[in-house]
Amino acid sequence: MQTLADDTFRGIAELMTSAIGLSFPANKKSLMSSRLAPRIQRLGLPGFEDYLALLSGRDDGGEFQMAVDLLTTNETYFFREPKHFELLEQDLVRSKPRRLAVWSAASSFGDEAYSTAMLLAELERRGVLGKDWSILGTDISDRVLRSAVQGIYPAERLRELSAERLQRHCLRGEGESEGLVQIHPQLRKHVRFGQLNLCQPLGDIGEFDVVFLRNVLIYFDAPTKRQVVDRVLAQLRPGGLFFIGTAEGRVACDTALRPLAPGVFRKSES
Ligand SMILES: C[S@@+](CC[C@H](N)C(=O)[O-])C[C@H]1O[C@@H](n2cnc3c(N)ncnc32)[C@H](O)[C@@H]1O
Repeated sequence: MQTLADDTFRGIAELMTSAIGLSFPANKKSLMSSRLAPRIQRLGLPGFEDYLALLSGRDDGGEFQMAVDLLTTNETYFFREPKHFELLEQDLVRSKPRRLAVWSAASSFGDEAYSTAMLLAELERRGVLGKDWSILGTDISDRVLRSAVQGIYPAERLRELSAERLQRHCLRGEGESEGLVQIHPQLRKHVRFGQLNLCQPLGDIGEFDVVFLRNVLIYFDAPTKRQVVDRVLAQLRPGGLFFIGTAEGRVACDTALRPLAPGVFRKSES
């Protein structure tokens, strides 16, 4: 297998940046090389240049989506950053909304959306929240979305959940499905998923009371980050809560926000 030449690296990086805002500084060359090499071999292509030609062509047979999947990290887990969920709970206990719309804006395999659904179902049982609540999970990758819709996970993945949550919100697989759990249909009916590229106009996706935009901004360069944050915040109601990953630093944007806790902001009312 040939090595990844600098100009081929730049060619693939430019494609990724212009289409989906993914940023690849020079120090990401070896990462790109190690993630794409096995795929190129599997396709039986001689090298990276041929792969760039395939991605740039009119009919890539879905390969661009495959490259996006390989070059992004879909790592996610249930109740990631537990403090965010505690803060959301406190906020809802205080405001007692009758309806609530939540957006998990880079949902990956759905862990964030279903964690939120578990919390909201529990608040509904406690009479804190009305029945009318919904969660939209979106991601650029259709591979993760297909999995998210099914809501099936290795049991190991939910090991941090309390026994009560597991019992209440998950179905345990038997026979061939032993070792797997599926999110309960009662919970899944509140959650829907769709494909959406945060680097393009969002279309008519509605307004939300809570938005999670966690652990995705790291992929974008500074100007793209700013555009994405403002675009996403345009869908958040004034007074709504906005969550980013605590490792993502400061958010630079034109929308007025009030910081509440690490990675948590409230959109200003005016
Ligand atoms: C590390 S996961 C974050 C999952 C979850 N939000 C969390 O914090 O656990 C990042 C996700 O962002 C998605 N992504 C990357 N670029 C995107 C874009 N331009 N538009 C939408 N999603 C994108 C990836 O496909 C991936 O599933």
